[in-house]
Amino acid sequence: MDTKLQTENLMDNGNFWFPEAVSTFATNVDTLYSFIMFLSYLFFGIIIAATIYFLVKYRKTPQHRKALKHITHNNLLEITWTVIPLFLLMVIFFWGFKDYLNMNIAPGDSQEIRVTAKKWVWDFYYPDTGLTTSSELTVPVNKPIKLIMSSVDVLHSFFIPNMRVKKDLIPNRYTTVWFEAIKPGKYQIFCTEYCGKDHSNMLATLTVLSESDYQEWVKAGDPNKSLPLDQLGQKLYTDKGCVACHSIDGTTNIGPTWKGLYQSNRTFTSGESHIADDNYLRESMVKPMEEIVEGFQGVMPTFAGSLSDREIDAIIEYIKKIK
Ligand code: CUA
Repeated sequence: MDTKLQTENLMDNGNFWFPEAVSTFATNVDTLYSFIMFLSYLFFGIIIAATIYFLVKYRKTPQHRKALKHITHNNLLEITWTVIPLFLLMVIFFWGFKDYLNMNIAPGDSQEIRVTAKKWVWDFYYPDTGLTTSSELTVPVNKPIKLIMSSVDVLHSFFIPNMRVKKDLIPNRYTTVWFEAIKPGKYQIFCTEYCGKDHSNMLATLTVLSESDYQEWVKAGDPNKSLPLDQLGQKLYTDKGCVACHSIDGTTNIGPTWKGLYQSNRTFTSGESHIADDNYLRESMVKPMEEIVEGFQGVMPTFAGSLSDREIDAIIEYIKKIK
């Protein structure tokens, strides 16, 4: 799964603080950030310099053992140090509020894509073309993209550093983000809300294509369509996140290993037992809570709706091959 990490895009093309700015509003975010940061540096410098100056100038000496005058307040000074920060904070507030609205209200002509998070994989559904992808989001350049997102299990957070968008995904609720990419390329997507054991591997790639490349991508349709079933199953094993819980080398993980699984005798927490045939494997994906294998906890989310029938067949064919 580590191969999905495209860190070169984050490290190589950006500046010291940020990865390369690739969405329409990313530069605004960076400018406001820099403004606040340098303003903080400026006041840090002024305050430290004044402190040191006063420490030295008004230190206790044999000639000056106590203050010459007792001063309680100074109106001019107090108004100055209230009005200047008020003015600066108002600038930051209105500047930030304008960008906040801009980042939260998607343009009316946005292309909508649905995002579903589950432990530990990202699924994308493109309503206008009917395509689905996992661990890979493909969008056209120079087109506002609105993501309508939800989670099927716990809190996750969707983060594309290059686009400067980040939003939590919440079970039983939709949240949205939008961005418009200004440059084709591949960019890293992270989960940034701790969501369990494989949170740090919950990655995806954003592929931004030129308009003509995107049309071709849509025309090519499902890239998995032409794969033989067992090879498709092998691909889905990582794309759909099965790898997080099920080993293929016999190691016991959160879930049972797939090695030697097919046609083996399974004993369940209910005390019953039977052979792992095609129907059992299918049921384990669609209704994972029906039968829990002895020695494991029922923590698998359902893949009903997120795996097509062909994909379920493919995973079964792949499991058959792991002897
Ligand atoms: Cu999903 Cu962290």
